[in-house]
Amino acid sequence: MSDLLKKTPPEPVSVIDDVDITELIENAPLFLDQAIQYQELMMMYDCAIKEIRTKLEVLNSEFSVRYQRNPIEFISSRIKKPVSIARKLRKRGLPVSVPSMEDNLTDIAGVRVICSFIDDIYAIADMLTQQDDLRILERKDYIRTPKANGYRSLHLIVEVPVFFSDHKRAMKVEIQIRTIAMDFWASLEHQLKYKKSVPDEQEIIRELKDCADTIAATDQRMMAIRNRIHSAPDTPEEAGGGDEL
Ligand code: GTP
Ligand code: MG
Repeated sequence: MSDLLKKTPPEPVSVIDDVDITELIENAPLFLDQAIQYQELMMMYDCAIKEIRTKLEVLNSEFSVRYQRNPIEFISSRIKKPVSIARKLRKRGLPVSVPSMEDNLTDIAGVRVICSFIDDIYAIADMLTQQDDLRILERKDYIRTPKANGYRSLHLIVEVPVFFSDHKRAMKVEIQIRTIAMDFWASLEHQLKYKKSVPDEQEIIRELKDCADTIAATDQRMMAIRNRIHSAPDTPEEAGGGDEL
């Protein structure tokens, strides 16, 4: 081990500090038995998220220099909670153990990318797909083929290599790419899942579907308007872009 490695204090891994032990004992006692392996694996997923975030930030910086705009509005990420991991494994009749979660789940590490425009979603996905250290395990295009409820988003499951002190490991990350408006819709629709009974549920489902279609049409119009604005000549003093926030 190099001197540098020895002297640098380990950074706290916030994801693991967040683990609610009581919840874990009740819902995933097996993870508790394997606490060390669990913690190690979560650290690896956390590193995989950092790798993907960096790749996205690099693409955004390069794009903004070349085209004077940012394709990515913001990026968020999360590690799936132990209780949700255990629930998903149990639901699928799979063993609730550390090796099983790595083998069977593809969404323990999740990154969400929010773009302003639909074509930016595909540009980001294509640029990522072309990187030769990334392996694309799955691509689901819920924008071209929306779900029946109106959900739209582009999903990738990728495998990214992470280099540790003595080995390299390919880690799976789920990447969801969508517009601000699609994200707004998905956040509200998601809340339905947490309700046992909602009065007028069918009516709400219909309204949500209607909103999803309106949002999709608006996303298309916004993109067309942007193209018209961009194809118009700049006034000399504004060439190179303004400096608004
Ligand atoms: P999960 O078992 O839910 O992970 O679904 P899956 O393995 O079939 O994968 P899919 O790509 O369909 O969905 C992955 C994730 O996308 C989900 O965990 C949600 O975060 C999100 N998602 C998928 N469908 C919907 C939806 O109808 N509404 C909302 N709000 N989010 C969705
Ligand atoms: Mg999921």
